[in-house]
Amino acid sequence: MSIRTLDDLLAEGVSGRRVLVRADLNVPLDKQTGDITDDGRIRAVLPTLGALVEAGAKVVVCSHLGRPKGTPDPQFSLSPVAGRLGELLGAPVHFAEDTVGDSARSTVAGLADGQVALLENLRFNAGETSKDEAERGAFADQLAAFGDAYVDDAFGAVHRKHASVYDVPARLPHVAGRLVLREVEVLSKLTGSPERPYVVVLGGSKVSDKLAVIEALLPTVDRLLIGGGMCFTFLKAQGLEVGTSLLEKDMVETCRNLLERSDGKIMLPVDVVAADAFAPDAAHDTVRVDGIPSHRLGLDIGPETVAGFAAALSQAKTIFWNGPMGVFEMAAFAAGTRGVAEAITKADAFSVVGGGDSAAAVRALGLDESSFGHISTGGGASLEYLEGKTLPGIAALEN
Ligand code: 3PG
Ligand code: MG
Repeated sequence: MSIRTLDDLLAEGVSGRRVLVRADLNVPLDKQTGDITDDGRIRAVLPTLGALVEAGAKVVVCSHLGRPKGTPDPQFSLSPVAGRLGELLGAPVHFAEDTVGDSARSTVAGLADGQVALLENLRFNAGETSKDEAERGAFADQLAAFGDAYVDDAFGAVHRKHASVYDVPARLPHVAGRLVLREVEVLSKLTGSPERPYVVVLGGSKVSDKLAVIEALLPTVDRLLIGGGMCFTFLKAQGLEVGTSLLEKDMVETCRNLLERSDGKIMLPVDVVAADAFAPDAAHDTVRVDGIPSHRLGLDIGPETVAGFAAALSQAKTIFWNGPMGVFEMAAFAAGTRGVAEAITKADAFSVVGGGDSAAAVRALGLDESSFGHISTGGGASLEYLEGKTLPGIAALEN
């Protein structure tokens, strides 16, 4: 892999040059207040931004937030992120109210050496995510006009073939930022020859999102522990009734097939916390997986499952975890995620947490981030990396 890095760019000297940085500032926002609920992704790009500021670059940061539909939508504005980024950098961040329009042009033109601007949400422009090369290219031309060099530090978005990730680096001298480098370095340890036993924990709500990675990981891992909403489709595949739990009916057959081919490596819950409703105050009990009442839905893994998963994790030398074990945002259904997370921190293993939700869970549950080997800022990106897929954002840096 021949990727130029931020240090190469810094060595050339960036003082007075405009450096366009693609970051992934797609942070979770509180639905009611719009406040940033977890600023982990903002903190994660500070090393790159700080180095550029210190070197006297005019730093132009761009990012997406959420999934607006190619047109401005105030609920997805990056404006609150500009405020938080400024606090963390200790210097105001100039916010452009559009991405490539008049506001962006004058904001970038007005930057002094060592100052930082943030452009409005890239996805307010249809060209960013377009499947049409020409439409993406036209938008990439406009973005590239704001930089003399390009830094990709948006690890969470490297699996997207989007203008700012894939087409801009074809138009400017390009390097990988500190975050992208560190993520690739860590994840490549997992795809290389991980120390064994190698135990993977997968959770989250959708099996369909995780199928490819389960397929890819099965031959490699020693144990695959499955919790979260996706476990119910597997339980159904074992012939169990899952009440009103999350179920992807069209995936049951695939799950059955995976279980058959898994050589007993897949561990499923033996008990779950089943509730009357998807609500923080819903009545709930721990039940065996063969006794889920027909009117109830499972919202967390149960204590016996946590103990079993913890025992498997305690043997591990390498651990990858993606996806919460239950609805950890609700206190009544947080014990599974907490228990598994704590078991990971106690294991004498190299551990990697992947995925925005799992990383946010670690912080929301007040766990010590430093007791994990690495907390990835990429959800889909880290999974696709482990699947061995070509990531457009990385491929673009290699050219
Ligand atoms: C993420 O949250 O996984 C990244 O920011 C990518 O977002 P996307 O899935 O909307 O492309
Ligand atoms: Mg995502």
